[in-house]
Amino acid sequence: MDDSDMALRAEWLRRELHRHSHAYYVLDEPTIPDAEYDKLFNELQSLEEAHPTLRTPDSPTQRVGGAPLPQFAPVRHAVPMLSIRTETDTTEGGAVAFDARVRRELGIATDAAAIEYAAELKFDGLAINLRYEHGVLVCAATRGDGETGEDVTQNIRTIRKIPLRLKECIAPVLEVRGEVYMRRDDFERMNERQREKGEKTFVNPRNAAAGAVRQLDPAITATRPLSFFAYGLGEVQGWNLPETHGAILDALAAFGMPVDGGRAVVTGSSGLADFHKRIAGLRDALPFDIDGVVYKVNSLALQRRLGFVSREPRWAVAHKYPAQEQITVVRDIDVQVGRTGKLTPVAKLEPVFVGGTTVSNATLHNEDETRRKDVRIGDTVIVRRAGDVIPEVAAVMLERRPSNAGEPFDMYRRLHGKCPVCGSEIAREEGESDWRCSGGLFCPAQRKQALLHFAHRRAMDIEGLGDKVVEQLVDAGIVRTLPELYKLGVAKLAALDRMGEKSAGNLVSAIEKSKTTTLARFLLGLGIRHVGESTAKDLSRYFGNLDAILEAGVEQLLEVPDVGPIVAQSIRTFFEQAHNREVIEQLRAAGVHWPEQVVEHVAKPFAGQTFVLTGTLPNLTRDQAAERIEASGGKVAGSVSKKTNYVVAGAEAGSKLTKALELGVAVIDEAGLIKLLEQK
Ligand code: IVH
Repeated sequence: MDDSDMALRAEWLRRELHRHSHAYYVLDEPTIPDAEYDKLFNELQSLEEAHPTLRTPDSPTQRVGGAPLPQFAPVRHAVPMLSIRTETDTTEGGAVAFDARVRRELGIATDAAAIEYAAELKFDGLAINLRYEHGVLVCAATRGDGETGEDVTQNIRTIRKIPLRLKECIAPVLEVRGEVYMRRDDFERMNERQREKGEKTFVNPRNAAAGAVRQLDPAITATRPLSFFAYGLGEVQGWNLPETHGAILDALAAFGMPVDGGRAVVTGSSGLADFHKRIAGLRDALPFDIDGVVYKVNSLALQRRLGFVSREPRWAVAHKYPAQEQITVVRDIDVQVGRTGKLTPVAKLEPVFVGGTTVSNATLHNEDETRRKDVRIGDTVIVRRAGDVIPEVAAVMLERRPSNAGEPFDMYRRLHGKCPVCGSEIAREEGESDWRCSGGLFCPAQRKQALLHFAHRRAMDIEGLGDKVVEQLVDAGIVRTLPELYKLGVAKLAALDRMGEKSAGNLVSAIEKSKTTTLARFLLGLGIRHVGESTAKDLSRYFGNLDAILEAGVEQLLEVPDVGPIVAQSIRTFFEQAHNREVIEQLRAAGVHWPEQVVEHVAKPFAGQTFVLTGTLPNLTRDQAAERIEASGGKVAGSVSKKTNYVVAGAEAGSKLTKALELGVAVIDEAGLIKLLEQK
C-alpha cells in the first residue's frame, strides 16, 4: 500500500468502526460479531502505530488514551447552559399551571387552539455540552456555573454511546446538550463488584456518573458504565434548525446521537398531565432513574417569543416526581435469615415515604458493607428505593451522628454466634462475604423461605400460599418439608388464623393444580443455589427429563448454555445430598409430574426463532405466551431488532411495535401466534 492507499484504508476502517459501534451501543442492534469488530479495530490500531500521522482525534482508537490530568481546564460556554424552573406540585396541577402560564405569557385566548409540547423524561445525571466541529467531537464540558464549565473531553470520549463523529452532519459548529447517566442495572452490577472487592460502594447512579465524569484519570472513567441521552442544543453554525424541538431531537438521532424513545409530542394541559401520569406508572420499570419529566414548548418560534426570565427559559419546566431518596433514622439493626441461610443485616427505620411507598426496613447487604458505610443504631441515613430494587441504606450522614450512637456493627457479637431464628451456629467461610446459619431446613426461617420459593408464581405457582399462611404452617409444625404441602386438607388449613372454609378450599385446589407442572418450574422450585429461572429453563431444555439431571456430572452440566463451574458444582452438590433426593422422590410420589420434554439438540419447531411480546394479549398472560413459545424451542427477547422473527402485539402495544414496523419484522396477534404454534 502506498501512503494515499493507507490513508484511505484508515478512513474506511474508522467509518466502519463508527457504524458498527453506533449499531451496537446506540441502536442495540449489533451488525457484526465482536471478534470481527476487534479485527477491524486492531488493524486500524496497527496502521496508526506504524504511521502516527494517520491518527485523527475522532478515531475509535482514541476513546481511552490521555494521561491523568492535574486539573480540568475551564471552558467558557458559547451559549450559557441554563437551568429550568421546577414545578414542585407533583400532581397533575403542575402540568395545568405550566400550560396556563405559557398561554398567558403568549397572550393566547383561553378558547384558542391547544399548544403543542415536547414532553421528555428528566434524566437524573449530569448535564454535558458536546461540541462538534465539522462533525467531529472536539470538546465536552460540564455545566459548571452555567457560564464556564470544566473540560472533560478525555473522559467523555470513553463513553461508547457518544459518537466521536456525527453521521450526515458536517455543520461547522453543532453543540449537543444532554445528560450523562448510569443505568440502574449497570449501577447495581458495579456496586456488586465493589462489594466483592471489599471496596466502597456508590450512593446512587447520579453520584456515580458525576464522579466518573469528574475523574482526573480517564482510564478510571473508562471502567465506569456510563450512558448518555441528548435533549437539546448549544451553539449552532451552519445548520438550518428545524421548526420544532421534537424535530431537532429526531435530527440528532439521525446524526447518531442517543435520544430517549420515551419522548412524545403532546397537546394542551391534558396532554401534559397524561404524559406525567403515564411516565409515573412506568418509572419503576425504566432502566434508569428519573426525577421527573420536562415539558418544552415544541415550536421554536413560540420559544423565541417566550424568551427567558432570570436565566430560566419561560418555555420549559421540570415537573417532578416524589423523591427516590429520603433521610431517616436507624432505630435498630436486625438480622434476617434467607432461604439459603444467608444472614442479612437490615436497618429498622423511622418510616419514610420514598419512591412511592412507605419504607421501614432497608437492606445493609452484609457485615462488611455495613462496616464500610459504618451504619450504627441512632444514625441519620439516606435510604434509596428505585425501581424494583429493595430499599437500601445508601449512606450515613456522619455529621448527624448522636453521641449515644451504637457500636460498629459486628454480626457475631450481635447474634452471640447463633442464628436468630433456630439458634444453630452461624459461620462465615473464608473468602465469603456472608455469614450463614448452619441449620439448613431445620431452621424454620429457611423452611419458610423454601416453601415460599417453591410456591412462587414463576415456580410451582401455588396461589394463596403466601407469607401469612406459610408462617403459621411452619410455626405450628404442620409443614416441615415441601412434600408435606401435598398432604394438607381443608380442615387443617381452615383452622389457621384468618383462613375461612372457602379460602382453605381454594388453597387445596391450588396445591392440587400445582401437581401438573413443567420440569423447569419444578427445578426452580427446589431452590438450588444459583439456579434461577433462566438456568432452570436451560437445564430442562438441555436434558429433557429429571433423571438425566440427577445423574449428570459436572462436566456434562458445563455443556448447558450459560452454566459455569460454580453453578454446575452447586447443582451437583444439591443432588448428591440424600435428603434432597428424598424430597424429590416424595414430591413425585405425591403426584407432582410434568410432560417429558423434547431435548434441545433435537430440532424443535421454533428452535432459533426469536419472539418479542408487546402490549396486552386478549387471553394469554405474558408468562403463558412466553412459556408456549419456549416450549416449542423459541426464545423470547425484550427488545426488537433485525434479528427478531416475530413481534406478538396486543392492546396498547408501544414502541416495540413501531420499531417492528420500521424494521419490517413480522407482526402477529395472539390468534396468529396460536395458529403458528399449532401448525408447527
Ligand atoms: S432541558 C434550557 N431536558 O435537568 C433547558 N434538561 O435544569 C435546559 N435534565 O441539570 C435543560 N433531563 O441536565 C432538559 N430532558 C431534559 C432533561 C434535562 C434532565 C437536567 C439538566 C439540568 C436540569 C434542568
